[in-house]
Formats: sequence, structure tokens, C-alpha cells
Amino acid sequence: MLTDAPILESERLRLRSLLLEDAPLIYEYMRDSEIAANTLNIPYPYPEGAAEEWIQAANEANRDGKGFTFALVLKASHTFIGSIGLGVEHIHQRAEVGYWIGKAYWGQGYVTEAVRRLIAFGFDDLKLNRIHARYFDRNPASGRVMQKAGMTYEGTLRAHYLKWGDFLDAHLYAILRKDYEARRS
Ligand SMILES: CC(C)(COP(=O)(O)OP(=O)(O)OC[C@H]1O[C@@H](n2cnc3c(N)ncnc32)[C@H](O)[C@@H]1OP(=O)(O)O)[C@@H](O)C(=O)NCCC(=O)NCCS
Repeated sequence: MLTDAPILESERLRLRSLLLEDAPLIYEYMRDSEIAANTLNIPYPYPEGAAEEWIQAANEANRDGKGFTFALVLKASHTFIGSIGLGVEHIHQRAEVGYWIGKAYWGQGYVTEAVRRLIAFGFDDLKLNRIHARYFDRNPASGRVMQKAGMTYEGTLRAHYLKWGDFLDAHLYAILRKDYEARRS
């Protein structure tokens, strides 16, 4: 079993473990409430110390084999732009993908590129059988990322989350190993 986040590459991105030196840009990106508003566990306002704690916890989870959290870095400029992660449930050979990037980088296809690379990692290296993702109804851009990365809509979880005082619907997408292999052959 792989236990550390490896370095993965795609056309424009390098996916590597988070480093403490990524913290200043994490604080800058988290000043935008839209990232916290559309994700499950990011607080807003983003408190002092949260980035360092998150980096440490993510790297411990990587080492414990519970998941893989990667920094997304532009290969051309070495700029840290956001993060993508896989939470792995080994007993079911499945994982959930989650992601965010700084607002200045939205709409350029970066997260779709990263999700495609992570799906390949999940099936080819981790030998998973299923990779799924969920997004809040109010965040269709994330749904579009899932579609473009080859995931299939499986249903809507009604009022599944209580977020900042509102019950939110979440849409579920997934890709199975057999879909991935069929697409490659
Ligand atoms: C959602 C998010 C990850 C998208 O990242 P990104 O790199 O901008 O995504 P991409 O450029 O790869 O693709 C975005 C797609 O959504 C589309 N889109 C953008 N706003 C949209 C909207 N309001 N309605 C429908 N589609 C929308 C874009 O046009 C693009 O699709 P296209 O290539 O067919 O034109 C990014 O906005 C983000 O980090 N948001 C905050 C955190 C978050 O929402 N995380 C996901 C939690 S599930």
C-alpha cells in the first residue's frame, strides 16, 4: 500500500504533499468566503493557525493511509494555487474526492485537470473500485468539474448538510473502475 502522497504531474500542474510554506497563500485564498461557503470543513473567517494545523493533519492522514491530500502547483511558475484530496475507505476500495483553488485561478480548467489526474492515480495506483464526489446545489461549477472529469450523476441527497444555518441539497457523482477502463480501451 502507498502511504505517502507521491508527486503526480499533469499537463500544467504538479500535485505534491502540502508544505508549511504553503500556509501564507492558504490564508490569502481563504479570505474569499466562497471557498468556505462551498466546502464542508473550512471555517470562515479563517482563524490564525488553521492552515498550519490543516497541513499537519493532512500529512499525518497521508502517512496513516487514510487519504491523500495534495497541493496544486502550477508547473510553469511553481505557484501554489489550491488543494485536492482523496479520502480513502479501504474496506470498500473507494474514495471521495474534494478540492478548492484560489479565486484568481477559477475558470481555467485547473481543477478538472487535477481531478482527472487524481482519478487515474486512484484506479491505477491505489487499485480503487469507485471514486465519488459531492457538491452543494448552489455550486454548479463543481458539478461541471465532475462531469468533465468523467463522473456520472447518481442522485441528490436532499437537505443532507446543515451549513451556516441552511439545509443544503448535495448532488452525488461517481466513476467506477469499469467506466474508467472502458473509456481507456
Ligand atoms: C468549483 C471550483 C473547484 C472549480 O474549479 P475551476 O478550476 O474553476 O474549474 P474548471 O475551470 O476546471 O471548470 C469549471 C466549469 O464550471 C463552469 N462554471 C463556472 N461557473 C458556473 C456556474 N455558475 N454554473 C454552471 N457552470 C459554471 C465553467 O464554465 C467550467 O465549465 P466549462 O469548461 O464547461 O466552461 C472552484 O471554483 C473552487 O475552488 N470553488 C470554491 C471551493 C469549491 O467549491 N470546492 C468544491 C466543493 S464540492
